[in-house]
Amino acid sequence: MPKMRAVQVSAPHAELELVELEIPEPAAGSVRIKVEACGICHSDSLIKEGLMPIAYPRVPGHEVAGVIDAVGTGVEGWKTGQRVGVGWNGGYCGYCDQCRRGNFFACQTASKVTGLTTDGGYAEYAIAPATALARIPDDLTAVEAAPLMCAGVTTFNALRNSGAQPGDTVAVHGLGGLGHLGVQFAAKMGFRTVAIARGADKEPLARQLGASVYIDSAAGDPAAALTALGGAKVILATVTSGEAMASVTGGLGPNGTILTIGAAEPFPVSPLFLLMGNRAVKGWYSGVSIDSQDTLAFAAMTGIRSMNEEFPLERVKEAYERMISGKVRFRAVLTM
Ligand SMILES: NC(=O)c1ccc[n+]([C@@H]2O[C@H](COP(=O)([O-])OP(=O)(O)OC[C@H]3O[C@@H](n4cnc5c(N)ncnc54)[C@H](OP(=O)(O)O)[C@@H]3O)[C@@H](O)[C@H]2O)c1
Ligand SMILES: [Zn+2]
Repeated sequence: MPKMRAVQVSAPHAELELVELEIPEPAAGSVRIKVEACGICHSDSLIKEGLMPIAYPRVPGHEVAGVIDAVGTGVEGWKTGQRVGVGWNGGYCGYCDQCRRGNFFACQTASKVTGLTTDGGYAEYAIAPATALARIPDDLTAVEAAPLMCAGVTTFNALRNSGAQPGDTVAVHGLGGLGHLGVQFAAKMGFRTVAIARGADKEPLARQLGASVYIDSAAGDPAAALTALGGAKVILATVTSGEAMASVTGGLGPNGTILTIGAAEPFPVSPLFLLMGNRAVKGWYSGVSIDSQDTLAFAAMTGIRSMNEEFPLERVKEAYERMISGKVRFRAVLTM
């Protein structure tokens, strides 16, 4: 059997290891992708640190971009040679009760999570159901497209469904992989975009990405600073700390919503503060393949790009370390 290079986690807390695996064959309804690039998302730490009840070994990676190189039986509308991306949502059935209600992410039958319940894109080849595929526009390279498959779609989809209107104050909390794309999407959607991050060093980058206001959360109370701006209609909280989310929630204006995107620990919130201004705390869970495809198209159309540091697959440990230590500006992307 022909082999491929892949990076796997053999057990919770184990190192990322470069291994040789058999090149997988696509099952019915699936395609095989020759992976060209795969982003490293903070959520990959869930696999590495054993925070989810999954089977090991596992190949992580849910920001996959590449080319279809084999098509399983029963697949319609996709062929070899097409450039595609795959994100966290690894496909759905389309006929269960949840799918029929449009809740594809909650599919009860074929629900898969790329790089979590199935092997993902830290490899030369990956398998994905046809329902998980997004078309990559010609204007985007694989390295540009990869981070849009999770960091991009999660922030784009959260913002476009947030209820904010052009001109509304939208704060993006955290300037990591998700946050730096969130700032760009918010600005291009016409929101008065506020970036909130720790320290002054990220201010020039935040402004370059489209933020009209920058709040240094280390220099003062970020909630008070938001309130002084009139309060936020939406806070897109991409940070990995619940304490940090709690510190900005008081900056919500009337009818404001904090969208908790970051997988953080619980944080306290005052019911009185919520009820007296019709405010809300709401989660947002990435999107499905068509949301990813919309994200790619919007980014291509508006010139939005992830700022990436590229690493060949064999340097995965270094790339992961750059991400988990918060040093990467702003996404580490593996190339095959
Ligand atoms: N909801 C979804 O569907 C979804 C999708 C993808 C990812 N996620 C989650 O979203 C989060 C962000 O992912 P990412 O890939 O963007 O991560 P990342 O690139 O590592 O960025 C993490 C961000 O959190 C900030 N942060 C960490 N600790 C903080 C603290 N104590 N106080 C304030 N800020 C802090 C960092 O700020 P500094 O730069 O100042 O350190 C950075 O902006 C992760 O929890 C990830 O699992 C959720
Ligand atoms: Zn992710």
